[in-house]
Amino acid sequence: MKPAVISMALFLFALASAAQAQGNPVAGKSLYENGSGTTQPCVACHGNVENRRAAIDPGGDLDFDLVRARFLQAITAYPSQMGQYNAGFTEQQKNDVAAYIADVPKARPNLVDFRASATGVETAPATVTFRHAVTATAPLTLGAVGLSGANPADFRIRSAGTTCANNLVLAAGASCTVSVSFLTSTAGAKSALLNFPYTQGSTNVTRTAQLSGTVGDQPPPSSANPPGGGGALAFGWIALLLAALSAKRRGR
Ligand code: HEC
Repeated sequence: MKPAVISMALFLFALASAAQAQGNPVAGKSLYENGSGTTQPCVACHGNVENRRAAIDPGGDLDFDLVRARFLQAITAYPSQMGQYNAGFTEQQKNDVAAYIADVPKARPNLVDFRASATGVETAPATVTFRHAVTATAPLTLGAVGLSGANPADFRIRSAGTTCANNLVLAAGASCTVSVSFLTSTAGAKSALLNFPYTQGSTNVTRTAQLSGTVGDQPPPSSANPPGGGGALAFGWIALLLAALSAKRRGR
C-alpha cells in the first residue's frame, strides 16, 4: 500500500473511533457550572448536577445514551428555557455535558450474555469493569463483589483477571475488573446479578451487571455493550480493507 492509502485508512480508523467517543465529563462539568459563554450555566436553573441525575435516572447508573437523549428531548420540549443549547452548544459540548451528568461509578458492560456449548462446560470468561466517576471529588471504597439473583450458582467469578476486591479504594476515574464465566449443569435460560457494592463518604450504593446464560450451539460469549468500542474497530478494519482493495484495483 502507498503511504497516502495507509494514511487515508488510518484517518478513517480515527474517525470511526471518534464516533464512539462519548464526550468529556471534565469539559462537561465546566459547561454545566459556567455555560459556554453564549449560554446560561445549567446551575442557573437546575442547581447541582445531582438534581439532573435524580430527574433522569433516580438511583440508576445513568447510561450516557439515556442522559444524552433526555437532554436533547428537553432542548426541544422546553424551547424558552433550554432552546438556547440547540445552537449555543456544539455536538461535542452536548456530548460533554451528557457525559458529565452520566459520570457516576458504574459497571460496564452491564449486560453480559453467555452461550455454553454444553451443560457442564465452562464458557470463556467475560470481563466487567467497574469504574469510579472521573469528576468525583472523593475516592470510593468497594465492598465484596458477589453474585445474586435467580441462578448465581451457574456463574463463576474467576480469580484470574479479577482485580476488584473487598475494601479496594478507587480514586476518581480509577477502575477494577471482574472476570466471570458461565457453567451450568442444566439446560435453560439462567440469570444472575453481579453486584458491586461501594461506599463513598456516608453513601452506600450497589451497581450491578446483569448476567444471562444459555446452553446451545450459538456463538461464544458476547457483551451487550463492550467498553472497547468493537464497532469502531470493525469499521476501521473495513476501511483498511477497502483502501487496500482500491489500491489494488488501481494497479499500485
Ligand atoms: C433557563 C432555565 C434552564 C437552564 C439554564 C437549563 N435548563 Fe434544563 N430544564 C429546564 C426546565 C424548565 C426543564 C423541564 C422541567 C425540569 O425537568 O426541571 C428542564 C429539563 C431538563 C432536562 C430533562 C430532565 C428529564 O426529566 O428528562 C435535562 C436533562 C436538562 N434540563 C438538562 C439541562 C442541562 C444539562 C443544562 C445546561 C446545559 C440545562 N438543562 C439548562 C430549564 C433550564
